[in-house]
Amino acid sequence: MTRLDRVEQTRGRFTGPPLTPRTAVIWSVLRAELERRGGIELTVLDVGGGTGGFAVPLAQAGHRVTVVDASPDALAALTRRAAEAGVADRVRAVQGDGDALAGLVEPAGVDLVLCHAVLEVVDDPVSVVTALATALRPGGAASVLVAGRAAAVLARAMNGHLDVADTLATDPAGTAGARDTLRRRYDVDGASALLRAAGLVVEEIHGVRVLADLLPAAVADGQPGALVELERALAGRPPYRDLAAQLHLFARRPA
Ligand SMILES: C[S@@+](CC[C@H](N)C(=O)[O-])C[C@H]1O[C@@H](n2cnc3c(N)ncnc32)[C@H](O)[C@@H]1O
Repeated sequence: MTRLDRVEQTRGRFTGPPLTPRTAVIWSVLRAELERRGGIELTVLDVGGGTGGFAVPLAQAGHRVTVVDASPDALAALTRRAAEAGVADRVRAVQGDGDALAGLVEPAGVDLVLCHAVLEVVDDPVSVVTALATALRPGGAASVLVAGRAAAVLARAMNGHLDVADTLATDPAGTAGARDTLRRRYDVDGASALLRAAGLVVEEIHGVRVLADLLPAAVADGQPGALVELERALAGRPPYRDLAAQLHLFARRPA
């Protein structure tokens, strides 16, 4: 299949991979952007893209994706996954640190940048977001997923760790200290301000996993379709949105 065949086959009807509570809302937003761009081949950069959960489906939809990730193991899995999906020629794996992104990608060469579940762990999120914005062409879009602070506070409290919940709620970075696996968490205002400071215009904000982490496994596993639909229904609606485990921001570099 040629590149144009692939693009043509998916023009206007890219559905992405099977939807889960972790991915349904994000794919809805990305699908709308791909359709808005009229099915043309896009240059995509996925920072901290890991094993290619988003990169490979985007390549299958006819786009050209560069994944920058710090982990050689993740990139090896990405390369295998891309080969198995028949899109090895459309996926480029680059080992690198998100904090050094500015030196790894050309300015203004990317149509769509993904940065999912990475800003919580990098040294300097301000410089990473600045580099993301710089990589975008004018009119290009950024899909940014960050850990939500409020959900973490509630989860710790419900598990009986009230001291940790208190720390998470009051710590300026939204972290519970040295043993926390994340270096920071965000609320809607903080995440929006971070993107705006880099010159991006935030167009949409959704909650990801509003309910999924709160439900007993029997409910989540027993009614997966209903859960996905409910997640989609609540994702854009405060206060549900703001209590989600992750916050998804879709932003654009002004044209
Ligand atoms: C939680 S995973 C998210 C993977 C993918 N973005 C997703 O949403 O499925 C975080 C990824 O970021 C990568 N990572 C962590 N720190 C990084 C850094 N400083 N620079 C680049 N990648 C980093 C990890 O190797 C891992 O693949």
